[in-house]
Formats: sequence, structure tokens, C-alpha cells
Amino acid sequence: MARVLLVTGGAGFIGANFVHYWLAKYPEDNVVVLDALTYAGNLASLDAVKDAATYTFVRGDICDQALIEKLLREHGVDTLVHFAAESHVDRSITGPDAFIETNVIGTHSLLKAAKKIWLDEGQNPENHRFHHVSTDEVYGTLTADDPAFSETTAYAPNSPYSASKAASDHLVRAYHHTYGLKVTTSNCSNNYGPFHFPEKLIPLVITNILHNKALPIYGDGQQVRDWLYVVDHARGIDLILEKGVIGETYNIGGINEWANIDIVKLICELMDKAFASDPALAQRFPAAVAANAGDSQSLITYVKDRPGHDRRYAIDPAKANSELGYQPAETFETGIRKTLNWYIDNTDWWEKVMDGSYRNWIEKQYG
Ligand code: NAD
Ligand code: TYD
Repeated sequence: MARVLLVTGGAGFIGANFVHYWLAKYPEDNVVVLDALTYAGNLASLDAVKDAATYTFVRGDICDQALIEKLLREHGVDTLVHFAAESHVDRSITGPDAFIETNVIGTHSLLKAAKKIWLDEGQNPENHRFHHVSTDEVYGTLTADDPAFSETTAYAPNSPYSASKAASDHLVRAYHHTYGLKVTTSNCSNNYGPFHFPEKLIPLVITNILHNKALPIYGDGQQVRDWLYVVDHARGIDLILEKGVIGETYNIGGINEWANIDIVKLICELMDKAFASDPALAQRFPAAVAANAGDSQSLITYVKDRPGHDRRYAIDPAKANSELGYQPAETFETGIRKTLNWYIDNTDWWEKVMDGSYRNWIEKQYG
């Protein structure tokens, strides 16, 4: 039977990739995207689906409980997939309030609306699902020798971002245990891929190489992150919606740990090779070091470390592997090449984000 999804944060990086994935795989389902279009939201990321009869976009805030209730009721939503969040650790250090507002208060507003419509008003007491998209950062930091995070690792968030996500995870859990809301939660490792806002490490490095800007490495660059191609995250959520046990949490990851400095050097090498094999790139990006047969690694610049910088994240995906049959489809080699090519082929998307012209367009559209 066709489902009706409410996808919060669907104009963000992972949400947009999820919407593409979902509408391609389940074209009979209806997908309503709710997104506030903050600095991180980008309607251009949803251009490919905007004319689909089964797709609706609503600009709005997840803190607006009355709006959520209206959407759940009027669209007959049975599945809510919650991506909307403030997501950048550095911004949470300089301005934590927005993180508490959206990640904690906003998640609670969604839970209250879902409980009211699905349970209290009885719209769909049996076959609803509230899936909460969270992060491995709630588990805190690992040393080089620690085992990877499992679902039973104690929460120990260190940044305002991860603390706000941890709070939201607890609220989701409580709404299941107290009220019987049918919830699942996924805690995923760092994602990379198309439509990633160029303030995060991988897209920042790619776009800075193309624009001949410094590649800032925080501290000693030896911090480790566990990278997953974004569509593999969408596949994991799909499996949880299909086979996940209500009230459970699932860690999603691809066992792919990289020190930051190594990943930055790898991207430099791949980019230099791309320029060497395709002379058209030098014409399109004449300022790039690689356009003049230089070494992109010369752009690497060590800068002051992030305060409270977590040293290592790593996901143990054994539960998702054994209980859901989850395996990433993409290797890091294929995923990073796809990502590089996407940024090379879609300069319009990221240049409009970076020069402010996208923001001006949104203001004109929505005020
Ligand atoms: P993102 O910052 O790219 O996108 C967030 C989206 O949420 C944007 O479109 C923004 O406009 C929207 N939004 C923000 N506040 C809102 C509000 N109050 N109401 C409605 N919409 C609002 O983030 P992302 O990287 O796509 O992350 C999506 C989710 O996945 C987040 O919950 C994040 O914690 C989680 N996550 C991210 C990663 C990662 O590597 N990026 C890894 C694991 C989990
Ligand atoms: P980021 O992409 O912000 O993700 P997160 O902090 O959620 O893991 O950063 C990934 C890693 O890269 C993290 O250890 C911080 C580091 N980093 C840099 O060294 N330089 C940068 O300019 C950025 C944005 C991140």
C-alpha cells in the first residue's frame, strides 16, 4: 500500500538525498517535505523531483506544532522521517541557542504533534512510524584503541550540537516508552556525497581546491571520522522503516575510518589526477593550483583546533548488519569519486550557495 511520508529537513544534505532515493524507489508513495530553508536548506537540491505528482514542498518550522498537526492530518501522513536539525558543530560552539531550539524543542514539537494526531485523535494508532535521524556524535569521543560505538555505548556528548541531538534521542525514546508512539532511531556516522553544504570538511576541501583557497586543517589533523556515502544512509533508514523493531535504535556505518589529514590529501591527489586527465578542467577552473600542474596539497594550512574537538568516531554496524541485512553499496573509492565528479559537474549549485545569490532568491520567493 502506498505510504505518505512527512520528511523534515528534506532540503538539507541528507534529507534531499533521501527524498531522491525514496521517490525513485517508491514512486507510488507521497512525500511531503517540510523545511524552514535555513542557511543550510536548498530548494535547488530538490529540483529533480519538484514536478513529481507525489511530491509536495512546505516551507515551515518544526517548532510550529500547529503546522505539523495540520500536515499530518491533511495529508494523512503515516511515516515521519525527521532530518531537520542544526547540524554544524562549529556553529554550535559560537551559537548554541539555535541548536537547542530546533534539535530539542523542534523534535519535541514533532513528537507532541505525532502523539496528538496518530494516538490521541486516533488517525492512525497502529501503522504509524516516527523515525528519528541522529548521529554517532551522541556517544562522545574514542581513543585510537577503543572499540567502535555500539547501540549500548553510554551517551557522552561533548559539543552543544551532539548534546542537543542526544537530548532529542532521549525525548524520542521517552515518547515510545511513555505513550506508545511507534518510534525508531538511527545513529549514523559522518556522511559525504552530493548536495553537501560547503562548510563541512569534504565539500569545503573540494570547492576550495577548485577556487584556489586554503584547506584549513584543525589542530594536528589526526582526528578520525568514519565516512559513509549519503545514499547508503538513505538505504539504512529504508531498511529500518521496513524491518526495524519499534523502540529500537540502529547504528549505521560502513567501517571506513580516516584521519582528517589523510582524507584531505586523498582528495588533493584525486583532484590533481582529474585535472591531469581532463584539460577542460583547467579552462573551467583556471585559478586552481592543479590547473597549472601544481600540487593541491600546497593549499593545506594547519589552523587553531576546534574547542572540545572529538578525537575519533567509529560505528560498529553489527546490529544493522545482522538484524536488517544492512551493507553499504558504495566503497569509499567509488563514493568519493562520485562526490568529486558531482561538485565538478554542479558548480552552479555550490557557487550560488557560496556567493549568496541562492539566499537572495529565497528571500524574493518567500520573504
Ligand atoms: P543539513 O544542515 O544539511 O540540513 C538540515 C536541514 O534542516 C536544512 O534543510 C534546514 O533548512 C532544515 N532545518 C533546520 N532547522 C529547521 C527547523 N527549525 N524547521 C524545519 N527545518 C529546519 O543537515 P544534514 O547533514 O542533512 O543532517 C540531517 C540530519 O542527519 C540531522 O538531524 C543530523 O543531525 C543528522 N546526521 C548528519 C550527519 C552528517 O554527516 N551530516 C551524520 C549523522 C546524522
Ligand atoms: P565536519 O565536516 O564539520 O563534521 P563533524 O565535526 O560533524 O565530524 O568536520 C569533520 C572533521 O574535519 C572534524 O574532525 C573537524 C575537521 N575539520 C577541519 O579540520 N577543517 C575544517 O575546515 C572543517 C570544516 C572540519
